[in-house]
Amino acid sequence: MQIKITVLPGDGIGPEVTSEAVRVLEAVAQKFDHQLVYTSEKIGGVAINEFNDPLPAATLAGCLQSQAVLLGAVGHPDFDNHPPHLRPEAGLLKIRNALGAYANLRPARLFAALMDASPLKASVIEATDMLIVRELLGGLYFGQPRGDDGDSVINTMRYSATEVERISRVAFDLARKRRRKVTSVDKSNVLEVSRLWRQTVIRVAQDYPDVTLEHQLVDSCAMALVSRPASFDVILTENMFGDILSDEAGAVVGSLGLLASASTGGPVGLYEPVHGSAPDIAGQGIANPLGAILSAAMMLRYSFDLDAEAAAIEAAVERTLAAGHRTRDLANAGEAAISTTDMGRHIIAELA
Ligand code: IPM
Ligand code: MN
Repeated sequence: MQIKITVLPGDGIGPEVTSEAVRVLEAVAQKFDHQLVYTSEKIGGVAINEFNDPLPAATLAGCLQSQAVLLGAVGHPDFDNHPPHLRPEAGLLKIRNALGAYANLRPARLFAALMDASPLKASVIEATDMLIVRELLGGLYFGQPRGDDGDSVINTMRYSATEVERISRVAFDLARKRRRKVTSVDKSNVLEVSRLWRQTVIRVAQDYPDVTLEHQLVDSCAMALVSRPASFDVILTENMFGDILSDEAGAVVGSLGLLASASTGGPVGLYEPVHGSAPDIAGQGIANPLGAILSAAMMLRYSFDLDAEAAAIEAAVERTLAAGHRTRDLANAGEAAISTTDMGRHIIAELA
């Protein structure tokens, strides 16, 4: 199989983690006899520095001509005082939108070997295996009007029933391949948007009588995520709530550095680790590449139906962690930590 991939390394630790993901993809391609072709484009702060545009036209065109996009991270404090359209994050929001990537899948599962990397007790986290389905193109991130309104500044949370329905179907369809439970998260005791969200999810659920639906308010969900994380299967939620809850889920399973994501729904899938650009540790070779590597696995599964290939990467990650290899974010005090590239090397060795 011949596959064209655009790599967007981005800012901070983005280039370090995506290059490990590409090395792992290459090892898989060799093992399973696929031909992967890569082009690399700029996004985020590096693109602002070079082109004064966080998503240059050439980058977007490159992505649209490929079959999948692997992104590292965007963001840098240098741009904190820039206007919104000249911030690295604007590039990410634009590409998500341009690719029609409304369904952001963020799995958070506890690797058995990482029981003691979590700040929570083993008895609380064991068997944690959830999938956060985050709506990615609506809500506060995109709602109009927004911005300066003279005296005040506005952001708008808005959703149409159509938008809620399409993401709900993604969540219910995925629940059917898992433990058949959807927890829809909203703030319907306060927000009109959340009432539409809840009504719509209830309507969609009628088409999925075999899936259990429960509703949870977002504040209560944030608490339950740390008190009984293993009780969740699929969490279905809007853009901002999903952003917040997925970082929390990262901590529950040991490190945000582990979490991968797939942004699907459009013609070209976008795959990126859930973590940010981590400018504080960029360039030091100590970032955890597993989020990016597992995002590459999701790419093989969701964009190309290469399930065996994706599972091979996931199994290699599992074995590498079981062998005790830890990047700094996963190591406890006194435990040795390995570099970004060493982690990549171990995964590749396990693949062979
Ligand atoms: C994420 C990130 C982004 C988001 C930022 C960088 C715009 O935090 O992918 O979770 O908020 O969606
Ligand atoms: Mn986030």
